[in-house]
Amino acid sequence: MLKCRLPDINATTRLCAVLGSPIAHSASPAMQNAAFQALGLNWCYVAFEVEPKNLRAAIEGARALNIAGFNLTVPHKLLAVDMMDTLDESAKMFGAVNTIKFERKNGMIQIAGFNTDADAISVSLRDDLGMKLRGAKVLLLGAGGAGRTAALKLASEKVAELYLVNRTVSKAEEIANEIKERFPSVTVATKYPEGKIDLVLNATSLGLKPSDPSPLDEKQFPLDRARAVYDMIYRPPRTRLLASAKKAGCKTANGLGMLLHQGAKAFKIWTGRNPPVKVMRSALEHNIYGH
Ligand code: ATR
Repeated sequence: MLKCRLPDINATTRLCAVLGSPIAHSASPAMQNAAFQALGLNWCYVAFEVEPKNLRAAIEGARALNIAGFNLTVPHKLLAVDMMDTLDESAKMFGAVNTIKFERKNGMIQIAGFNTDADAISVSLRDDLGMKLRGAKVLLLGAGGAGRTAALKLASEKVAELYLVNRTVSKAEEIANEIKERFPSVTVATKYPEGKIDLVLNATSLGLKPSDPSPLDEKQFPLDRARAVYDMIYRPPRTRLLASAKKAGCKTANGLGMLLHQGAKAFKIWTGRNPPVKVMRSALEHNIYGH
């Protein structure tokens, strides 16, 4: 049984937090506190329920309090971009911020925005599915915030063919047009693929509730035509899509690895220390699978 003890909180404890709405389901506090503890850091990570209308006040308040850093989750990642003093290359490229570092510079506290989600997508696909993205054929479900980041990241990794399917077709078309402009070597279409492909990637929110239908129309794309299926959802750990993929003989993974790697990179940004990735993975597994 893995236990996470708080540090002896005192006047020098540094604070990090995740901001979102809803936030009560977040596994990030378990993961980050385990990492602080493993490295003997006097740091602490909590979660705040923050509505979009209060995001700017929360970030400015954190600047005044000299908080160490934030993670942002739904629905804040796009909204926060305009609230940063600086943006790293990834935040600029993907137009979204999921990690904030408050840094003291010349007596002032600067707010630096980062995107650690995009890299986490390719690291997790590689580590958890053995996926080589360059030259791959991918069906991506979803064209919201997560879908857009995934589509652009896959295109930047030079996948050969990208099929974008979304309930609201115009949103998939918008992303397809952006990819055609920014990554002209990628063949992109807003429909289900005809033949065999390497990967189906779910970036919709369908599957979060047990009553949700699968995000994939298996009449249009039977799963035995895919080598691997990744679901960005990690709670529940086995969605309807993943269960069906397993039955069809596909290699499968849920979004735990993505959550892990975005968090590991954020940890490095805040603390400057190498993240204890194994400890962080165990803490997440304990939080999500309960063992
Ligand atoms: P996130 O930041 O997690 O991507 P989002 O931007 O709200 O959240 O995107 C949610 C995604 O799930 C979208 O692709 C959405 O489809 P629409 O663009 O048509 O809204 C998809 N989604 C959510 N509920 C859905 C449903 N009931 N059926 C099909 N797709 C759904």
